[in-house]
Formats: sequence, structure tokens, C-alpha cells
Amino acid sequence: MFNLKVLITFICLISICCSFVSSQNILSSSQNILSRDILSQNTSQNQDISTQDISFIYEEPINGLKFYNTYTFSLEGSFSIWMILEDEDPACILPHLHLRFIDKTGKIKYMDFNYTLPAEAICPFNMEILPLAYNHIIIVYVKSNNGIKGKYGKIINYSNESINEIYLGNANGSVRFSISGKELISIEKPDKEGIAIWRLFSISDITRGKVIEHKNVEFHAPNLLSYTLVDSLSFSLTDGGFGFMYILKYDETKGSSVMRDPNLQYWRVYTSFLRVGADSPMAPFLVYQTTEKLNNLTIKLCTVTYNAEGYVCIMALNNTIINKKNNKSQTEVNYYQLRFLSTGAIVRLNIVSNPTNNTNIDLISLNYGGFLLQHSHNSVMNYYLLDDDGNYMQSQGSFGPEFIHFNMFRINNTIFGIKKQSNNKLEFLLKSLPRLNNHSTEYNCPIIETTKPAINEVIDPLIKEIMIKYTIPVKLSTANVSIFQLSDDPDKPDLLRQTFSGDYKLCTVGHDNYTVHIPIFESTFSQPNSSYYVLVENNFVISQERDEPLIGIKEKLWMLSTRPLKAAQHSDSITGILRLNEEGSLKFLQANHSIFFMNMIQEISKIIPVNKQRLATSGRWMYDPTSPKKILLSFNINEAKDDNTVEPNTQTIFENLNTLIKQKRFTALSFNEYTSLIDESAPFIMTKDYFKEFYPLIIIFIAGLVVLIVLYILARIKNPKGKNFAIFETCFIIQDIAVDLVFILLKVKNTPHLIIPAKIFFILPIVINILLAINIFVSEMATNPSFSKWVSKSLTLSSICTLLSAIDIQILNTFSSDLFGLKIFSAPLTKKSQKIMLWGSIISIFIEDVPQFIIQWLYYNSVITYDLIPTLALASGGLVIGNKLITRSYHALLRWSHRRDKVKEFIKRGHLSAASIRSIRSNVEN
Ligand SMILES: *[C@@H]1O[C@H](CO)[C@@H](O)[C@H](O)[C@H]1NC(C)=O
Ligand SMILES: *[C@@H]1O[C@H](CO)[C@@H](O)[C@H](O)[C@H]1NC(C)=O
Ligand SMILES: *[C@@H]1O[C@H](CO)[C@@H](O)[C@H](O)[C@H]1NC(C)=O
Ligand SMILES: *[C@@H]1O[C@H](CO)[C@@H](O)[C@H](O)[C@H]1NC(C)=O
Ligand SMILES: *[C@@H]1O[C@H](CO)[C@@H](O)[C@H](O)[C@H]1NC(C)=O
Ligand SMILES: *[C@@H]1O[C@H](CO)[C@@H](O)[C@H](O)[C@H]1NC(C)=O
Ligand SMILES: *[C@@H]1O[C@H](CO)[C@@H](O)[C@H](O)[C@H]1NC(C)=O
Repeated sequence: MFNLKVLITFICLISICCSFVSSQNILSSSQNILSRDILSQNTSQNQDISTQDISFIYEEPINGLKFYNTYTFSLEGSFSIWMILEDEDPACILPHLHLRFIDKTGKIKYMDFNYTLPAEAICPFNMEILPLAYNHIIIVYVKSNNGIKGKYGKIINYSNESINEIYLGNANGSVRFSISGKELISIEKPDKEGIAIWRLFSISDITRGKVIEHKNVEFHAPNLLSYTLVDSLSFSLTDGGFGFMYILKYDETKGSSVMRDPNLQYWRVYTSFLRVGADSPMAPFLVYQTTEKLNNLTIKLCTVTYNAEGYVCIMALNNTIINKKNNKSQTEVNYYQLRFLSTGAIVRLNIVSNPTNNTNIDLISLNYGGFLLQHSHNSVMNYYLLDDDGNYMQSQGSFGPEFIHFNMFRINNTIFGIKKQSNNKLEFLLKSLPRLNNHSTEYNCPIIETTKPAINEVIDPLIKEIMIKYTIPVKLSTANVSIFQLSDDPDKPDLLRQTFSGDYKLCTVGHDNYTVHIPIFESTFSQPNSSYYVLVENNFVISQERDEPLIGIKEKLWMLSTRPLKAAQHSDSITGILRLNEEGSLKFLQANHSIFFMNMIQEISKIIPVNKQRLATSGRWMYDPTSPKKILLSFNINEAKDDNTVEPNTQTIFENLNTLIKQKRFTALSFNEYTSLIDESAPFIMTKDYFKEFYPLIIIFIAGLVVLIVLYILARIKNPKGKNFAIFETCFIIQDIAVDLVFILLKVKNTPHLIIPAKIFFILPIVINILLAINIFVSEMATNPSFSKWVSKSLTLSSICTLLSAIDIQILNTFSSDLFGLKIFSAPLTKKSQKIMLWGSIISIFIEDVPQFIIQWLYYNSVITYDLIPTLALASGGLVIGNKLITRSYHALLRWSHRRDKVKEFIKRGHLSAASIRSIRSNVEN
């Protein structure tokens, strides 16, 4: 009885499990599993691999547990044993869950869990365990809710934490995983009208195993008059979708069967596909029909073929034939293989030979070609090998009556039996089946021949591309190829380095049509001494001949590693700016800036990856002058504390981040909340610090000016009446105003808060200067005949002069300076006007030079990129103030000493002469 149950479970399991990761001697390293080789057994001439059977013993640490079942699952490359504790009633079990996960390396993880499941599930024992991706399982059981039976699933992680319970539909449904293990579908049994509800669930949060229902749709079997739905089943598609099969039978009671049509199709089989992301299945297409009036037609199982021939289903046709000789009727069951493509096109339909005399057999399609036929006879399990056409090749072997459970690692063509439990020991015997094609087993994907670099190769971090060679001509398709860095902490998800699908123009197929070249970004293998793996999803490529999606390479199989770092060259801290896209800029403006910066640093440091301490920010930001809706953020990359450690230098970090940003849509940047707001159209750039860069130039400039000023002052002291130096001051003032004007026109818009003050302190002095200049002109014209003569002589010149004096009233001084003895510089001004000029220029220090200097300083401190203009504006503004202060104080000093002399003279002479007064004035006013 138990044997039969196990056998049934076996059949179910074979249909559930898809692929397994191979490892030659994985179990020998485990403490609980002993490995010993058994004598090689005779196999066929087709055999091209070692045929050594592997035997090992699993020892259960908890006394009293009984073996119940095994699961072989693909994603972790492991399998699990389910042990149970039987109740007094042998049909029931105690509500303890004991699962043993044995990974690729033979390490065992024990999961002992007391769960609260409804009595219906454990007495009589009636539940299933299905492995989910990412260290989770789902227990499927039936539970009554208000008297209505329903199917439920409880999701549990390997750390024994129950995540949640989901409702899967009515009690008769079936549950199936997508080929990736990331989605599951629960299909209710169709009702009389052939309508069933299917629910699609996906694991929304992969690391926490959160499962959400995201679709809940009805499906309808083909609605044909006079046909009834006999059975339906589902299977997983290569690209992640699901297939449905419907078996319909002609109903004679419904049909008009008075005149029997010889072409009447008694049985029809339809298939329909639910594509990834589609809302409803495709219209069903006919895959088989027969005019024979069979007893029954059953589909045993449907699986993905590994040679791009679509799907293969095993169909059993139960028929009663009448022996013409003795007129006795006899039941025969014929097995057929039915192969069809994703398009619905039939590739093959033929009978499969049955070398046994029994009608009750199991047939499994093998990944490396052919079929495995199993049949139990007198408690002995015999197995046979058939070729791709279903022809019997040879008897392959048997498992004796001591074996009570059988399962299979499909991916490396290995079947295993487990001997009857003795005490706490379970003995496994693994038998390797011969492969009918000599394709590589390394990648668990027979269609892949080689890769470059090979599995476990140590690679150059600057590798430009990697390559996969297939055994058939291929085309690129829509699924992704991704590279991950293996996480140091096995509980943490691996770090995505790059990902893109086949149909981006990044990958190319070589001229031979067999090889696919995958480009590698500089940032991908950036970490020295680290492990990486390439994950090739199913449907990354399709077969050129049939457009059929191909199986890919599972995670952690194509492993690569990088060398330890040689001591890196030191590089100084770098300040760089990156741009946010419009959405990001809006979010930044609404968010708390320092929290935004902090989160950004957090995510970027994880993605690069680099120690968080290496990234910092001054918090500076600004609108991008070239794209006003976008914001630039400034970040610092701190230099490594110790160049001898394995830390990358700042230049490397900078370049990695730059590559990541450039390739944002293909890197982890686009999968994180904050980094996804980065604008990939703007490169991550180092900011130029002109103070640093032009440091020598600016020093020379300032030094030169200081020397000139000193010379000027010395010359003035030597020759106080000399006026030729006025031109120098004028040039200086014009230069300053030009720089200020450029600054206002081009730069100040980057800092919105400075625009208004900058304009006020630019325009206000001009207005005041113009008023003063007009005042001087008007009064000069009225009171000074020699001035009006000068004006009428050179009209254009005098208007230019007025205009220029708007810049700084001091310029008028130049025109009255007798410069080089030229006429144009000989505007005769009265002492009164000269006094106004003096005061005007003093006022302008406070309403023009000092405020502008402050504004430029504020600008300099609130922007993150600056070029020569603000730097020069700042420097020349400072110098103008310096110059004015020095010359004015010199004048004041001169005036004071002069006055003191005059006062002394006056005291001496007893009165102040008019000439001396004039002389004091003229000294002061120059
Ligand atoms: C096949 O895979 C299983 C599971 O990974 C492993 O235990 C077994 O040793 C493999 N067999 C061969 C022949 O590689
Ligand atoms: C193995 O099988 C071949 C035929 O398939 C046979 O000739 C040979 O004697 C057998 N060897 C052993 C050791 O059984
Ligand atoms: C489960 O319950 C049994 C007794 O009912 C107890 O011996 C065992 O320690 C419990 N296990 C866990 C994991 O709580
Ligand atoms: C025919 O096979 C289906 C399974 O596909 C089974 O449910 C049904 O009972 C069978 N019908 C008969 C008449 O044996
Ligand atoms: C074939 O059909 C007959 C009649 O329905 C049934 O008795 C028999 O058990 C079936 N055989 C198999 C192998 O299903
Ligand atoms: C099948 O039965 C025939 C006759 O009943 C017998 O000669 C033959 O050996 C059997 N074959 C197998 C594989 O059991
Ligand atoms: C590769 O495929 C293309 C397009 O199908 C075809 O034109 C070309 O001849 C093929 N190249 C080889 C070497 O077969």
C-alpha cells in the first residue's frame, strides 16, 4: 500500500520538479551523509559518462521520525527529505514539520516546526509541500471555512517563520509553479460548463517570500456542442507562463447520432497558453483528435523539452479491442508522445513502445534525449530506456524490493531509490542514466555547449564581454541575462551588477549563429577577490529554426571570481556632481534634503559597492544651468584611509559610479528608490574648483595688481599733482564692472535667492552715479564756461563721458585729468564737482562694491560648480574694494598731513591764505 502511494507521489513529483543543479560529489563533504562508491554497473554502448552509482546514507537526528517523501528542486540546486511523525492512527501524522534541505555541497539544513494546521490536513494526512524560490516552501492543504472546503497554502521560510496563508481556490484545484519558481497558479477543477477559475500568485518580495495574488480570472474550455470536458491539466512553460490541456469527449447523448459519421472525432485534445503578463489564456488549439471510440484518453504529463522542440506530453489511450479469432475482447493501453511548439504547431506524434507486458507504466521524457520507462513488478522496479522516437533501446536496470521510494534529478539524468528505513538511517542509491546526446551537463542545460569564461574561472575585472555557445543556431529574445555578485551573507540577496534582455541592442549573436556575446560594463566585476555568477533566464534566446524559447543557466551555476587587489595607487578625494531627473528633482525639493542625501549615499554605496564611509556630501545642490528643471547634487568620494588595504581608490570608485550612471537602466541603480531618480543622460562629473585649479594664475593676477597699486601710491607720493594714474583706476573699474555684468547675466540665475539682491546692487549704484553725473554736468554747464566750451567742442565725447560715469562717477576724474596732455582728457571741472565725485566714489564702496562682493561670496558658497567668471568676479571685486580703501585712506592721510602742515604754517603765519586752502582741497580731491 505504501509502495503504491510512494509511486504515485513519484509521478507527481516528476511532473513538479523541473531542473536540478548537478554536483559530482556534493554529498561526501557532509557530516551526516556517508559516501561510498559501488561497483560500476553495465550500461549501454551509448554511455559516455562515468556510470558509477553513488550510494549514501542519511542519518536522521530525531528519533522516531519516519521517511515520507523527497523533493528535488532546482533553484538552490538541492533536494529535501520530508520526515514525519506518525500518529497512533497510521493514516494521521502529528502536526510537526520536519524538512531536511540538502544543498549542493551536502550541507543539511533542518527545519523542525510545530505548525497549526486544520485537523483535516493531518488526520487523515492530506497535504502537499511545494518548494518556492528563495528559501521558502508552501504547504498546500484543504481547510473547511464555514462548512465550505477550500484549498489553502501556508508559506514558510527555512527559518521556520510562517509568512502568510493564502486562499488558493476550491478544494479540487491543482497548484503549479512557474518554471522559475517565482509564480504559482492555482486552477480550480472546471465545472460542468468547462469553466474554472485560475488564480495567479507572485512572490512580490523575493527575500521575504511575500506572495500576492495578482490575477483572478476564469478560463473556459473550448465550448463545442456535443462534447464534454473529461479532464484538464496544466504545465509550466519555458518562458515562465503556463499551459492548459483540455480533454474533450464526444457525448453521444447530446449529439445527433442517428446516422453515425465515420469521420466523427470521438476525442479531442486542446491546448492553450497563458503567456507571462497576459490577462487571459490564448484561444485553445487542437493538438490531437481521434475517430476511435476509446475507453479513455489520459495525459500523463507534459514537460518542457530541452532541445527547443517545445513541449512533450505523454498520452495514454485505453482501448478495448476484439480479437477476431476467438471473439474475446481485450483492453490495451497505448502510449503516445505528443510534441508541440509554443505556436501550437505539432512537431511529433507517435506511439511509444512498451517492452513490458504491463499496461500500467510510467514514462518520463529525459533532458538528454529519449524516455525513461518504469514499471513495478513483484515489488521490483524495472526501468528501460527509449530513444527520442519512443523505440525501446535496452533494459537499463532495476531497483530491488528493498527500495521503497524513487525520484529523479532530471537535470543530470540521475534516478535514485531509497531503501526501507532502518532505525534512523536512510540509504540512497543514485543511478546515472546514459545520455543519448553528448551535450554538456555542466550548465544543467543541454542546449548550451560552452561558455567563455568557463565555470569557476578567475577573470580579469576589465573583461569586455562574455560569451555563450549553444548547440543550435539561436536568436536573441526578450528575457534577461544578469550578473550578480555573490553576497557574503547567504541570507542577504545577491548584488545585481548588470542586467539586460536579449533584445536590447547590447548583446550580439556571432556570425556562426551559435554564439551570443554579452558586453560587460566596467563597473560589473569591480570588486577584487569576489565571486560572481551569470544568470541566464529562460527565453534569453530562442531557436532560430523554430522560434522556440531556450532554457537558460540557473543562479549560482556559472560562477566567476576576481583576483585579490594589488595595492591600489592613491588618489585624492574627489567631489563629483550627479543630476536628478525631473521626477527626482521634484522629490528632492519636497523632501528633507539631508535625508535625501543620506538615502542616496546609502543606496549608492551598496550598489558600487563600497564602504559607506567613503561617500559623503556637503549638501550642496543647485539647478542645472543647462536644464533648469533638473537639480545637481554634490557628493564627495573620500580618499582611502590606508592604501594598503583592499579598498579601491577614489578614481576607481568615481569611474565605477560613472559607468553605473551611464548604464543606469541596466544596473541596480534603476531598481532602488533613490538611485532610480538619477538622470542617466548627464554623466557623473568631477567638479572643477577654480580656486584650486587656477590657483597660481590668480595669485599672479593679484600679486600683479598689488604691485601696480603700490607703484601707483608711491608715484602719487612722489608727485601728488600727477594725474596720469587716473587711467589706471578707470581701467580697473571698467574691468570690474564688466566681470560683474557677465556674472549677473550668466551666473546669478543658478542661485534664485541671489538674483534680486544682485540686480538691486548692480542697478542702484548706476542710478546714483548717473544722478551725480547729471548733477555735475548741469552745474558745470551753468557755472563753468570753460566746461561748456569743452562740451560744445567734443559733443560725442562728453556724452560717452556721461554714460561711462554711470559706471563709477570716479571716471569723470579721468576726463578732467589732463591725461597725457590730451584734449579729451582736459574737461575742466570745478572743485565743487570734484568734491561730489569724491563722495560719490566713497558711497559706491558701500552700495556697490561691498554688497556685490558679499553676493559673489554667497554665490560661491551655494553653488557646486563654478567656473572662471564667479572666481574672477570675486577676485576683482575684492581688489576694487582694496584699491579704493587704500587710495582713499592715502588721500585722507595726505589731506590730514597737509592740513597739519597748513595748520602749522597758519599758526606760524597767523592766517590761512586762499592759496593754501585751494592747495589742501586739491590734494584731498585727487
Ligand atoms: C546529480 O545531481 C544530484 C543532485 O545535485 C547529485 O547528488 C548527484 O551526485 C548528481 N549525479 C551525477 C552523476 O552527477
Ligand atoms: C555489458 O553489456 C554488454 C552488452 O550490452 C555485454 O556484452 C557485456 O558482457 C556486459 N558486461 C557486464 C560486465 O555485464
Ligand atoms: C513541537 O512539539 C513537540 C511536542 O508536541 C515538542 O517536543 C517539540 O520540541 C516541539 N518542537 C518545536 C520546534 O517547537
Ligand atoms: C479517464 O481518465 C481520467 C483521467 O484523465 C479519469 O479521471 C477518468 O475517471 C477516466 N475515465 C474512465 C471512464 O476511466
Ligand atoms: C482501461 O479502461 C478500462 C475500461 O474503462 C479500465 O477497466 C482499465 O482499468 C483501464 N486501464 C488502464 C490501464 O487505465
Ligand atoms: C511478456 O509476456 C510474454 C508471454 O506472456 C513473455 O514471453 C515475455 O517474457 C514477457 N516480457 C516481459 C518483459 O515480461
Ligand atoms: C545565420 O543566420 C542568418 C539569418 O537567419 C543567415 O542569413 C546566415 O546565413 C546564418 N549564418 C550561418 C553561418 O549559418
